[in-house]
Amino acid sequence: MQVLDEESPGSRLIYGCMGLGGSWEDGRYGAREVDLAEAAVAAAVESGIGRFDHADIYRRGSAESVFGEVLRRAPELRARIRIQGKVGIRLAAGDVVGHYDLGAVAIREGVLGSIERLGVERLDVLLLHRPDPLWEPVEVASAVAELQRDGLVGDVGASNMSTAQLVALQDALGTPLVANQLEMSLARHGFVDSAVLVNHPDNVGTDFPHGMLEHCGRRGIELQAWGALAAGRYTGGSAVDGRTAATAALVARMAADLGVTPEAVVLGWLMRHPARIAPVVGTTNPDRIRACAQAESVAAAMTRVQWYTLYTAARGKPVP
Ligand SMILES: NC(=O)c1ccc[n+]([C@@H]2O[C@H](COP(=O)([O-])OP(=O)(O)OC[C@H]3O[C@@H](n4cnc5c(N)ncnc54)[C@H](OP(=O)(O)O)[C@@H]3O)[C@@H](O)[C@H]2O)c1
Repeated sequence: MQVLDEESPGSRLIYGCMGLGGSWEDGRYGAREVDLAEAAVAAAVESGIGRFDHADIYRRGSAESVFGEVLRRAPELRARIRIQGKVGIRLAAGDVVGHYDLGAVAIREGVLGSIERLGVERLDVLLLHRPDPLWEPVEVASAVAELQRDGLVGDVGASNMSTAQLVALQDALGTPLVANQLEMSLARHGFVDSAVLVNHPDNVGTDFPHGMLEHCGRRGIELQAWGALAAGRYTGGSAVDGRTAATAALVARMAADLGVTPEAVVLGWLMRHPARIAPVVGTTNPDRIRACAQAESVAAAMTRVQWYTLYTAARGKPVP
């Protein structure tokens, strides 16, 4: 397996490991799940992806466990990849969330559990999975600092947080926040709407945190996009409505014209944005993973007209 350097096409992509492992019910897995994970990781690495996104809750820990088995089969891989984990959610039954917990004990236990399942010495990046209304940023910061002092965590970032929450967290932390992971895609285009609809009556309920792009740009916080493939709805998955079907047809035409895959067009649209968004790709299908590899070059070549054409098709009306 070959990991390409930072400048290589596709290297801004992150592979999302939520689909690996056993069931959400009990997390049980067998050799088949490890083989599937190995094939997915190999396809990601072949595609130039060097970062892997985990969370302690994915498949009740078994996403990390099968990834750990993959690393045991190919130990040389560890030094060539970066592993990102997340803590702060407690599951109830299945994949249903019980509550959030960004208390010091939960943060430490979460990280220790992930490290053990992955069989690694540390998490290169730790994201705080979701804002916990009962959090105390100073307590979070002290738990993170202790983990960093112990060499168990490298950098720290956030996920699903608002701009004000990032500021409150950063005020307490001793090291710079490196990332905020939010849902962003052609389907979840609130990050564009919030810019386009300033001072416009349609700007009601725009579902993206106010000022996020500008804040992250100024502070050097990477915006990571989860759900970046929009669950395949524009790339061969089932279209839920006419607007989605029309957008999928446009994506297919553009891909054919450019001689690339539809996945590269969908991700290239995100990456063309000057916020330098890093898509987190969650498909477990090796062919679909490889189909993402050209996204960076599509982004580099995408014209303003192509970008706006995709955006207006996905939003279902022209810009005001
Ligand atoms: N921070 C957070 O709160 C948060 C939340 C959710 C996810 N994440 C992270 O982001 C990653 C990606 O998110 P995601 O998995 O929700 O979104 P995604 O990458 O947009 O979608 C992946 C899902 O879509 C399916 N899919 C993709 N292309 C398809 C196609 N052409 N036809 C049919 N199905 C298709 C995949 O099935 P196949 O596997 O069969 O291809 C998979 O179930 C996750 O793995 C996780 O690491 C983070």
